[in-house]
Amino acid sequence: MNKISNFGYKQVTPKEKTKLVQKVFSNVANKYDLMNDIMSFGAHRFWKKIFIDIVNPRKNDKIIDVGSGSGDLVIEIHKKQFKGEIDIVDLNKEMLSQGKKRIKNKNINFHLQNAENLSFADNIFDKYLISFCLRNITNIDKSLEEAFRVIKPGGQYYCLEFSKPKSIFISNIYSYYKSNLIPFFGKIFSNNQKAYSYLNESIDMFPNQNNLKKRMEKAGFQSVNFIDLFDGIVSIHTGYKL
Ligand SMILES: C[S@@+](CC[C@H](N)C(=O)[O-])C[C@H]1O[C@@H](n2cnc3c(N)ncnc32)[C@H](O)[C@@H]1O
Repeated sequence: MNKISNFGYKQVTPKEKTKLVQKVFSNVANKYDLMNDIMSFGAHRFWKKIFIDIVNPRKNDKIIDVGSGSGDLVIEIHKKQFKGEIDIVDLNKEMLSQGKKRIKNKNINFHLQNAENLSFADNIFDKYLISFCLRNITNIDKSLEEAFRVIKPGGQYYCLEFSKPKSIFISNIYSYYKSNLIPFFGKIFSNNQKAYSYLNESIDMFPNQNNLKKRMEKAGFQSVNFIDLFDGIVSIHTGYKL
């Protein structure tokens, strides 16, 4: 019997989920950056800056950025004194080519790959980064296991993702914004209401802070921690491979 995955609120087979998610990203790729600015009122830039401050890339780190999309994290990393190597991974060729257009630095390698099945050898990365991608992955636990496999002993996993606000007040306002205004803006600015309804639904279906922490621990990560930004609308999870 086929296992069931969630594509937003809809239940589909895992194979269908991967296909449907990829269709969403192929459809939004050319407006992805603009829509991020509109939907978050620019806040995603602040979240990514804080995220990279926490990652604190050392000069010669070997970093993997999974679900890199148009490459915001890599651009943020290069604002620091960074001379190391970055492997960029994305399953979507349209999104990957948005990244290629924007990123011209040396020591960057682009890979069209699934986070659930990376082609890299074991124990090679100092830092594994994933931002706003994990909730789109069909088998989250498999991707966590793959992350654990490719990180060096002593290396770290960093995830920036939508999460669950703590206060009821913020939660109610946010919930209204997400389920009504995001699809509306999607329709107005990118003529794609469906993709932005999926954005809202995928956020709702994603595990909360503590649940994700447990799943990271199950994959083998230690000293797993998270910090909430904007009351938990997004959170940053970190864990070590020891
Ligand atoms: C919301 S975008 C995030 C892009 C970028 N990291 C950012 O923070 O702006 C999610 C990206 O994850 C990619 N993605 C989704 N599922 C994936 C998978 N299984 N493996 C690799 N990339 C995936 C999508 O193609 C898309 O480019």
